[in-house]
Amino acid sequence: MTKVTLNKVSKTYASGESSTIKNVDLQIYDGELMVFIGPSGCGKTTLLRLIAGLEPVSEGELWFDDKLMNNVVPGERKIGMVFQHYALYPNMSVYENLSFGLQQKKVDKKSIEQRIRIVAEKLEISHILAEKPQNLSGGQQQRVAIGRCIVQRPQLFLLDEPLSNLDASLRAKTRLEIKKLHKTLKATMIYVTHDQHEAMTLADRIAVFAPIGDINGNDCRQSNLQQVGTPLELYNKPCNRFVAQFLGQPKINFLRAKVVEQSQSVSLFELQQNKHLISLPGCQVNLHQEVELAFRPEHILIGAEIGAEINKTEEARYFKLEAQLQSCEQLGGESILHFLYGDSELVVKVQKQFEVSELQTTNWPIHIAKSHCHVFDLATGLSLKVDI
Ligand SMILES: Nc1ncnc2c1ncn2[C@@H]1O[C@H](COP(=O)(O)OP(=O)(O)OP(=O)(O)O)[C@@H](O)[C@H]1O
Ligand SMILES: [Mg+2]
Repeated sequence: MTKVTLNKVSKTYASGESSTIKNVDLQIYDGELMVFIGPSGCGKTTLLRLIAGLEPVSEGELWFDDKLMNNVVPGERKIGMVFQHYALYPNMSVYENLSFGLQQKKVDKKSIEQRIRIVAEKLEISHILAEKPQNLSGGQQQRVAIGRCIVQRPQLFLLDEPLSNLDASLRAKTRLEIKKLHKTLKATMIYVTHDQHEAMTLADRIAVFAPIGDINGNDCRQSNLQQVGTPLELYNKPCNRFVAQFLGQPKINFLRAKVVEQSQSVSLFELQQNKHLISLPGCQVNLHQEVELAFRPEHILIGAEIGAEINKTEEARYFKLEAQLQSCEQLGGESILHFLYGDSELVVKVQKQFEVSELQTTNWPIHIAKSHCHVFDLATGLSLKVDI
């Protein structure tokens, strides 16, 4: 197994004017399943290619354990890669696809047979070893591609959106298999996806990347890497606006506000919409600073729920607004309600079904839990909350 360390790694393509990857400082622990997530074009594949040695690192250092890898050729890195567009050899059987790389390495026939038998059992492809790829389902082909990687016994697995060609149910199933596989192999894995559900369910830790630049009010000019942490750390304590809005479905809500009073323990914010005042503890803000308050759809109480959930003594833990109901999606187990507050949309998720008559009401009281409220600087997007 391998620990991977990136020290201020940057990459500028010869054809590009600016860096695609900039100042990435990251450690992937021995045996960890690390997920890289970020929008299209933020450099996830580039970073995997740097780790694999398929592209040279422009600046910084790449270490595997205590060995500097910058100038080590790909063949000596003991890496297994599975790409989004995995190509099996069409004229070879599954068995031949699995054995090809080992034969090239002059592994003896008996060992090849043994390795393939074990891996095929793990991946449940033993019964299709004689088939040609065109006779296999997408999921089976995908498992063969992963198997071809595993039989090589790599120290490090690099998986670049390996499930994106599969339909939703097969994706979910294969995802579980990969998770199981990671447990049994105890290998270090780096898994790239732009599907947040996949990231949250698979990862030991997630690294969130953004393209270099100023992204929707987030200052991402210093590095692509925004935050690294366990799925729940990132969900509960996003370090900036970009991470907050990237994880979570429906997306986190934002309201513009300004600091009008500031003391050690409490900050007072005035909402841009209607000068409504809100106090929050534990914020590192300055007087007159412009911010965005953010809260997730599931941390909001509405209508009849409010009375049921909180009594008078608990009321101070919430801030209260009134918003207009625009629409409601009833999904059975939960409902997603869309409100308008001033010119901001607020999305609320509740585990409740509504009668049609209840949804006739236009103005709804809304209570937002202060303890779940995030504060981001408007100019830089950075979190200003210290005790959430
Ligand atoms: N060989 C190359 N030469 C020049 N520019 C490149 C090269 N490969 C990638 N890029 C650029 O680098 C940036 C990052 O690309 P990359 O493929 O790493 O993104 P990604 O995060 O994997 O995106 P996606 O989610 O769409 O796969 C893009 O702007 C892309 O155009
Ligand atoms: Mg990619």
